[in-house]
Amino acid sequence: MEKKNMDWSNLGFGYQVTDKRFVSNYKNGAWDDGVMTEDATITMSECAGVLQYAQTCFEGLKAYTTEDGRTVCFRPDLNAARMKDSCERLRMPVFPEERFVEAVKEVVRANEAFVPPYGSGATLYIRPYMFGSSPVIGVKPADEYQFRIFATPVGPYFKGGVKPITIRVCDYDRAAPHGTGHIKAGLNYAMSLYQIVDAHEQGFDENMYLDPGTRTYVEETGGANFIFISKDGSTMITPKSDSILPSITRRSLMVVAEKYLGMKVEHRQVRFDELKDFSECGLCGTAAVISPVGKVVDHGNEICFPSGMDDMGPVTKKLYETLTGIQMGRIEAPEGWIVEI
Ligand code: PLP
Ligand code: COI
Repeated sequence: MEKKNMDWSNLGFGYQVTDKRFVSNYKNGAWDDGVMTEDATITMSECAGVLQYAQTCFEGLKAYTTEDGRTVCFRPDLNAARMKDSCERLRMPVFPEERFVEAVKEVVRANEAFVPPYGSGATLYIRPYMFGSSPVIGVKPADEYQFRIFATPVGPYFKGGVKPITIRVCDYDRAAPHGTGHIKAGLNYAMSLYQIVDAHEQGFDENMYLDPGTRTYVEETGGANFIFISKDGSTMITPKSDSILPSITRRSLMVVAEKYLGMKVEHRQVRFDELKDFSECGLCGTAAVISPVGKVVDHGNEICFPSGMDDMGPVTKKLYETLTGIQMGRIEAPEGWIVEI
């Protein structure tokens, strides 16, 4: 497969149109067979459920070129399952999980020339999403839906690649107690836009959200879960909460830490005032991979992790290298984690 002529190593995390995408429509209570199309645009009613009441959810996963030249993606079955949870919570019809995985493969195959080469530092980001397409004016779910998947080549989510970032504690919430923080609803991201623009204007890379009920516990950022490393390096600690997204990267890192690196793993509520007891901090997610956090600023009070602002901490680095080694075929993966295209 001849690859597109692109400056792969200098890609940022942005959208560029690729050759083909998958589209399936839901009408009269059933999904159609779906097609691959070159049309990257959507035409729909001015009164579509998504436009009026934000009835939409999405997923994000990546395809990689492995060291030996295969094209693979990482745990797409978990994205299918999480999208099912999102759809059920938003009263949207579920796109069958096996068909979801097949459609992901089809989209990667059709855009194989855009899958960045091994070692370039870039990957193909895959974006499945669904929205209410039929007119809705009283507040209720739409009758018709569209499910689509596109793909776009991306580089690092944070400028500077794996350099430690500085984040701040945010005074606003991205989710409500008993709300939709645990699903990938578009509305959660709309909730975070004011804050992310403000964070950037104030010189911070991201927001740290605290639990919306008591503002005592650490939740996540707008697009990634947290991992922390204990002072002695033996334990990975990661927040547990009903209002954060169950990150597939975080769930995978819990296995990597325990089974590959022989660490202890604690998945529990993490009090904000425990941060000073940790040696390293990272953000983990499909887009973020693992992005080290060097400093958290809480209204002028700085919490600086001993790992510093120059490099990823040693334990975070081991986690990063093992996870990306699994994804890029350098390290043997647990059963079912790597799906060949
Ligand atoms: N948390 C939020 C709010 C996200 O948007 C994402 C991205 O998908 C994550 C966490 C990380 O999840 P995953 O590792 O499944 O990509
Ligand atoms: C992902 O990591 O796939 C996400 O959806 C996060 C988003 C902030 C890009």
